[in-house]
Amino acid sequence: MSRQDLPLNGFTVQALLLLAISIHCNNGFELARSLLDKTTSIALEIGMQFKYFAITHSNGDYVLEESWRRTWWGLYVVDGIFQAIQRSNYFALWVVQADVDLPCEESQYSSENIPEPHSMFQYNEREFSENEASYSSFTYLIDIVRILGSVMAVAGEGGNLSDSLVDDADGCLVNWELHLQENKKDVLRSDGEIDEPLFHAHMLFNVTKVFLHRQRSRLAHSPAENLTKCAPTLPSSEVLLPQRKSY
Ligand SMILES: *[C@@H]1O[C@H](CO)[C@@H](O)[C@H](O)[C@H]1NC(C)=O
Ligand SMILES: *[C@@H]1O[C@H](CO)[C@@H](O)[C@H](O)[C@H]1NC(C)=O
Ligand SMILES: *[C@@H]1O[C@H](CO)[C@@H](O)[C@H](O)[C@H]1NC(C)=O
Repeated sequence: MSRQDLPLNGFTVQALLLLAISIHCNNGFELARSLLDKTTSIALEIGMQFKYFAITHSNGDYVLEESWRRTWWGLYVVDGIFQAIQRSNYFALWVVQADVDLPCEESQYSSENIPEPHSMFQYNEREFSENEASYSSFTYLIDIVRILGSVMAVAGEGGNLSDSLVDDADGCLVNWELHLQENKKDVLRSDGEIDEPLFHAHMLFNVTKVFLHRQRSRLAHSPAENLTKCAPTLPSSEVLLPQRKSY
């Protein structure tokens, strides 16, 4: 994987992405980041951000085509999460113009029953469309990572930021929750299993809310919060309210 002459193709992107995730999970943040940077630059170089990539690299095999869409969006999600954990105020793929179609449900993918994909444009316009299509759990995950990007852009600024930017970011979060389709409100599927991408999305939604609001809150801090990456204690937010119990 450290070779300089890795083939420039989607399989290399998939392999490097998996490697970066596992190294990151083992606390190798810097190495994982540099692998992900390499992955991202290969992905952009071969044009994975474009809708036609999936179509032209799959020989009419719908499962492989879906796999390329998932690789792109997987990269997007992981880039956002890595950067949020490092408390960066942006992630590279957030600003890349991409028109890759959205992934289908996990069950459709694993049963190789791939429907006609929706576009991000359709998803964005869903409130205005007449017959509401249903979107996959992975789509809601992608959307929350996109919102995480706008929260990251304002979260690093501490209290020194106009309320309107914070309100905008908060509005995106409120909308995400408000417009969840009925069957996406519970991470348990009807068969009693956890819907994993949906769990991931709900979890990120909660974390993103904390990320945005904790440092602006006037709640007492617990010493345990010094261990968290999500909402570390900042000197400026060290405001203790008398009625709150401090642990
Ligand atoms: C807050 O923002 C103002 C205006 O953008 C800037 O001049 C000032 O240095 C900032 N203060 C801090 C503590 O970052
Ligand atoms: C997110 O927070 C809500 C409200 O506290 C909670 O009910 C829900 O279980 C949390 N979701 C996850 C996935 O942790
Ligand atoms: C958290 O850590 C900072 C600096 O490392 C320290 O000043 C602060 O007292 C700690 N906060 C708590 C609640 O332990």
